[in-house]
Amino acid sequence: MEHSYSFCMRIDVGILGATGMVGQRYISLLANHPWYRVAFVAASPASAGKRYGDAVTGRWRMHDTLSPEVANLVITDAADVGAGRGRCSLVFSCLEMGKDEVAALELAWAAAGHPVVSNSSAHRWTEDVPMIIPEINHAHAALIETQRRNRGFGSGLVAVKPNCSLQSWITPVEALREAGFPVNRIMVTTFQAASGAGFPGVPSLDLIDNIIPLIGGEEEKTEREPLRILGRLQGEGISLEANLVISASCNRVPVTDGHGAAVSLGFSGPKPSIEEAKRIFRNFRALPQEMGLPSAPAQPIVVREEIDRPQPARDRDAGGGMAVSVGRIRECPLLDLRFFGMSHNTIRGAAGGGILTAELLTRLGYIAESGATWTAELSLPASAIASMARARELVGCS
Ligand SMILES: NC(=O)c1ccc[n+]([C@@H]2O[C@H](COP(=O)([O-])OP(=O)(O)OC[C@H]3O[C@@H](n4cnc5c(N)ncnc54)[C@H](OP(=O)(O)O)[C@@H]3O)[C@@H](O)[C@H]2O)c1
Repeated sequence: MEHSYSFCMRIDVGILGATGMVGQRYISLLANHPWYRVAFVAASPASAGKRYGDAVTGRWRMHDTLSPEVANLVITDAADVGAGRGRCSLVFSCLEMGKDEVAALELAWAAAGHPVVSNSSAHRWTEDVPMIIPEINHAHAALIETQRRNRGFGSGLVAVKPNCSLQSWITPVEALREAGFPVNRIMVTTFQAASGAGFPGVPSLDLIDNIIPLIGGEEEKTEREPLRILGRLQGEGISLEANLVISASCNRVPVTDGHGAAVSLGFSGPKPSIEEAKRIFRNFRALPQEMGLPSAPAQPIVVREEIDRPQPARDRDAGGGMAVSVGRIRECPLLDLRFFGMSHNTIRGAAGGGILTAELLTRLGYIAESGATWTAELSLPASAIASMARARELVGCS
């Protein structure tokens, strides 16, 4: 049975950290977005009061040209929470500052009624904050009901994205798990782009002709965050996936954009053949594809058959930068199966992933513009509706 909803809208959005690497990517990706329009930009006190176009002169890293509408926006200090009132109904947060400061600021924006979708790690382990990859754990969005009850938020909420590098391999892992192949050990070595460190990031003379075998805090995030993403919504929190151990080595490499990952997987039960794994990857689709969310790649996992792909320069833009490319799928003499994964760190791993999360939350009814005009038609399969209903029941909401 198919259910149809008439749906939305034009939502004015704000970007906290708009001048940075991820903030610029948000502005670039939202330039022609069908639902969202950038109406508010905020950054540090040093940028506050400047025209956006002036503040990013000499540091605009995107290939496209800044629109006059955004260039003329005057930057606000991100700490000025009241300034967003009436100017934006959704906020993307990509601030680079102390974790405690970011955590407090994001809660303050949510308390003021703004849904906040964050790229920062500040709330990734806050119990009532969902950490979402829409293709994997959309059901965790129901935690927002608990969060709103706990904190007395009205229309506000905080939802976060996980660390960028794990997005180059976790969707293929989920595809295998969902197909009945229980991955319980993962050995991953990452090759992470320079843009992952923001701008100006790592000094060029440290990185050119070099590899830096340390990215502070990255290995811990890579080893722990998947346990929450793959965990189950239980009561008022997420119970972590207990049957998975990850060993990560994270390296900074002289690539502009695109995080790569060499991954070996072990299974506690049946193992897929190489051809089965490829078929599972190719056929994987999830709720964002079923819903037809504007930023959802038609094919979330792209399998490369060439012997030397994926490569960052050639594959990071697959699916508009939102797909994960995998190749070199072969047996592993140490564990069971290995592959090389690649995704765009500032698109799928940051701004694009944040936008897709916001689109999901908008479609699920957690984000709305007051007085929204309803113009488009959405058809949801009964299975998608049932899965959300189950998730909502689990946290005790109607
Ligand atoms: N780069 C990636 O690939 C990536 C991927 C996933 C997640 N992330 C996360 O996204 C966040 C932003 O990363 P980024 O790479 O975009 O960093 P970035 O290029 O260094 O940009 C940082 C932004 O934060 C603002 N900011 C700094 N101090 C501030 C303060 N005291 N008050 C208000 N705003 C302040 C900056 O404004 P000014 O210009 O005014 O200083 C700038 O807009 C970080 O949490 C990072 O871990 C990054």
